Parts: sequence; structure tokens; C-alpha cells
Amino acid sequence: MAKYLVTGGAGFIGSHLVSALLAKKHDVIVLDNLLTGKIENVPEEAHFVLGSICDAPLVKKLLEGTDGCFHLAAIPSVLKANEAWLDTHQINLAGTITIFDAARTANKGCPVPVVYASSAAVYGDNTDLPLSESCQPTPVGAYGVDKFACELHARVAGIVHKVPTYGLRFFNVYGPRQDPNSPYTGVISIFMDRLKQKQPLFVYGDGKQTRDFIFVRDIANFCIEAMSHAAVDAPVSNACCGKGVSILELTEILIPLFGHQVEIIFKPPRIGEVYHSVGDVSLAIEQLGMRAQTDLATGLAELHAYQESMP
Ligand SMILES: NC(=O)c1ccc[n+]([C@@H]2O[C@H](COP(=O)([O-])OP(=O)(O)OC[C@H]3O[C@@H](n4cnc5c(N)ncnc54)[C@H](O)[C@@H]3O)[C@@H](O)[C@H]2O)c1
Repeated sequence: MAKYLVTGGAGFIGSHLVSALLAKKHDVIVLDNLLTGKIENVPEEAHFVLGSICDAPLVKKLLEGTDGCFHLAAIPSVLKANEAWLDTHQINLAGTITIFDAARTANKGCPVPVVYASSAAVYGDNTDLPLSESCQPTPVGAYGVDKFACELHARVAGIVHKVPTYGLRFFNVYGPRQDPNSPYTGVISIFMDRLKQKQPLFVYGDGKQTRDFIFVRDIANFCIEAMSHAAVDAPVSNACCGKGVSILELTEILIPLFGHQVEIIFKPPRIGEVYHSVGDVSLAIEQLGMRAQTDLATGLAELHAYQESMP
């Protein structure tokens, strides 16, 4: 049994990670400022602290005596990061450095490991598929640049300060409690919402554009496994399924879940949309010895059942 700090533990992914850690009988402290997270997402067995990852003395105090940190707190909005450039940078990058800095001495003056959320956004509009960690990152917005900078500062944490880290480049994470406005999985929420209301589905372009969707419980398992592979050479790997699913394929899985047909209306392609995104799973398999377990049909059925159970 270990004791971990989970930042962003009231959020979508963080709350599933907290549940998975508690199920393994670990002690969990959650640090979250509830900017997008919800207190009701945090299981009662976790110790919740309302506060910011940018509050260095608080982070230092909370990390002291733990066995490590899962750092997921961020403003995960590509749009907001471009609009509120400096403000989101303070959280997405400076907040991450605050965590790495506190990890330097958290174990009686010695370092504790940090597993942190990076993103497929570091690949930007790279078209060299499948997207592999060996590609040169070419992020195209403030959010992706800050996530890539987190990976570079993880190198500082390891090389200069001997803090072991592991960065996971999450792809399109979906599942219960996902943000309906998420740029990663918004299409799933929108389609489900319209299907529920028996309204047509709008598909932009030819619908053959692909995304690599991964179920949130698989992501939680990636994080837990990464904790035992954190190292001072700052490893980073993709957290994805390695399968590109087209928007039309998505409609074929979703429609039967609702038991009625709706019209699919094609609209002009959206300018600037990345056409294909699929990750390479080989490095994660080599380094972490694991791959995602939940196929899209199973994960979407669970998401559908969850949404049906909500008032
Ligand atoms: N959802 C995805 O598909 C996806 C894809 C790639 C990367 N990510 C990354 O995964 C992580 C979790 O994302 P999510 O989808 O669960 O988003 P989320 O918004 O549900 O979770 C983020 C959490 O961080 C908290 N937070 C924000 N600023 C904070 C601060 N200053 N101090 C403390 N807490 C703060 C929020 O309240 C929220 O609970 C983020 O780092 C995000 O960038 C997510």
C-alpha cells in the first residue's frame, strides 16, 4: 500500500484514477481547485484538498511523505489556451514545474516519482502516421506547446534534480463523466445527445477522418503502471489504442445503442481540422508492458448505460 497525491483528481480522468488507486488499497490525497472538476467526482475514501497546483507551499506540504504524484491538473482546452495564453501557461506549465520542484525533496529530502499527463497535442498536425514518440513534436497551439514543455522540464527534473518521471501522451479519452465540450471527445457527446433526441447527426467533410479513442479506465491503468516505470531519463510514451476510428464508424457503433435510425447530414469540412490521428502503441508496450483493454463498442456501451442512469 502506498500514498499518492493526485492533482486534478476531481476531474474526468483524475477521478477514475483515484477510484482505481483506492481499489488497489492505496491512500489518496486529491488536490483540485474545482475549476472544471466536481467535488461529487471524488470518492469519499480520498482526502480532498481544495487548492491550486500553483500554490508552491501547499503542493510541497501535500507531497511531503507521499510515495509519488499523479499530476493531471491542467486547463485541457486547446481553445482556452490560445485565448488566455498566459493564464493557462501558468497552470499547464508553471503548475507542472511546481509539482516537479516539490517532488525533489518530498521523501525526507529525497525525490519521489511523478507521473504526468502529456497529450497527443504535442504532435500538432504531423501526418506521419501512426504518431510515434520518435517523431519530432510540432505542436500548433499554446496547449500543445505547454504539454511538450512539460516533457522537457521532466528532463530537467530527472537530469538536474534526480526526480523520476513518466509522461503519458493521452490521445482521445472517453468514458463516464467526460466533458461534453471536450475537443478530444466532444463528437461522442454531441452524437449521443442528438441520438437521444432522435435528431440528425452532422458529419463534417467525408466522415472518414479518424481519431484514436481510448477508454478512461484504460488511461487510469496506464498511469498506475507508469508509476513503477518513472525514471530520471524522463521517459514519455503514447497512451492510446493504436486504432484510428473514423467518424462514420463511430456513428455505426453509436446508432444501434439507441435502437433507432437517424439521418446523417454531410456538411463542408471544417477548416484546420486534423484529418487523421492515430498513435503508435509499440513503445508503451515495450516500456510499460501493457496496452488498452477496452474496445470502442464496449466502452461506448458503458458510457451510454452511464448516461441513461443519470437524472
Ligand atoms: N480528456 C482527454 O481526452 C485528454 C487528452 C489529452 C490530455 N489530457 C490531459 O489529461 C489531464 C486530465 O484532463 P481531463 O480530461 O480529466 O480534464 P478535466 O478538466 O476534467 O480535469 C482537470 C482537473 O484539473 C483541475 N484543475 C485545473 N486547474 C487547476 C489548478 N490550478 N490547481 C488544481 N487543480 C486544477 C480541474 O478542476 C479539473 O478537476 C489534463 O492534464 C489534460 O491536459 C486529457
